[in-house]
Amino acid sequence: MTQDTDEINPFEQRNKQMEHVKQRMGKIKHKIAIISGKGGVGKSLVTVNLGVGLSMKEDDGKVGILDADLTGPTIPKMMGLKGKKLEVGPPGIFPADGPEGVKVVSMDFLLPNDEAPVIWRGPLKMGAIRQFLGEVAWGDLEFLLVDLPPGTGDEPLSILQLLPEMDGVVIVTIPSEVSEVVVRKAVTFARKMNVPILGIIENMSGMVCPHCGEEIEVFSEGGGMSISEDMDVDFLGSIPIDPRVSSASDEGVPFIIKYPEAPASKSFMKIIEKIEEKVKKE
Ligand SMILES: Nc1ncnc2c1ncn2[C@@H]1O[C@H](COP(=O)(O)OP(=O)(O)OP(=O)(O)O)[C@@H](O)[C@H]1O
Ligand SMILES: [Mg+2]
Repeated sequence: MTQDTDEINPFEQRNKQMEHVKQRMGKIKHKIAIISGKGGVGKSLVTVNLGVGLSMKEDDGKVGILDADLTGPTIPKMMGLKGKKLEVGPPGIFPADGPEGVKVVSMDFLLPNDEAPVIWRGPLKMGAIRQFLGEVAWGDLEFLLVDLPPGTGDEPLSILQLLPEMDGVVIVTIPSEVSEVVVRKAVTFARKMNVPILGIIENMSGMVCPHCGEEIEVFSEGGGMSISEDMDVDFLGSIPIDPRVSSASDEGVPFIIKYPEAPASKSFMKIIEKIEEKVKKE
């Protein structure tokens, strides 16, 4: 056994990094992760619109979004920040300024090109995220929303473990029986991680006809509500399908800013009120 070594013990290094992350996030009042049982259910759309909607109600610069999903640059794209590089100053790494003054940090800002995520695997990836989060100067935010990688596998688990003292998770699901099974996994996941579940959002829940304004049932809606009753989790609300979601995303303008009067935007605002009420009561 060698005692006299300058080499840093990897566990010590890990703990030090975790301590930095904790300090950096220490001034954030409410930290909420957005999770899903599977991919493609609208987790990033929900994160962006809840973040921007919250920021409309708070002072400028009081809401942040952490895009911890390394599978693609969805959040920067939806917020018009694609290709952005982060600035570094004496206090640390500054988040990018997004729409409505939302402070945005995305792992995507670190990658030199779209092929880079392939290189980051397993422990190396987690180490990089830990080190990075230990340097971000968030300031004293009121809310931080974290977009986690989809599903309930190793990656969302490891990232959730990195984040100190979460207020809770919001589970995003879509109607249909298949996703009911999947959302149960997400509920179990959060419970195993000992993180409170703030509630379930059912996305792509019906559609409002662009011509007559009537609601059309697309899948078998209402699954989110019945699961929430079954599993004793609050139902936060449903977001209808709106064909304008993808064009707004392509333009890099958050939906809630571009179409504030749309039923989806009104739903987002109602959900925000429920979330605010819940976390501020705690
Ligand atoms: N309510 C909606 N109306 C119309 N399109 C939607 C709606 N919600 C999501 N979409 C579209 O569905 C796709 C998936 O949404 P999003 O990227 O937010 O999902 P995600 O759960 O974050 O996916 P991933 O697992 O890949 O991270 C996107 O193309 C988005 O524009
Ligand atoms: Mg996503």
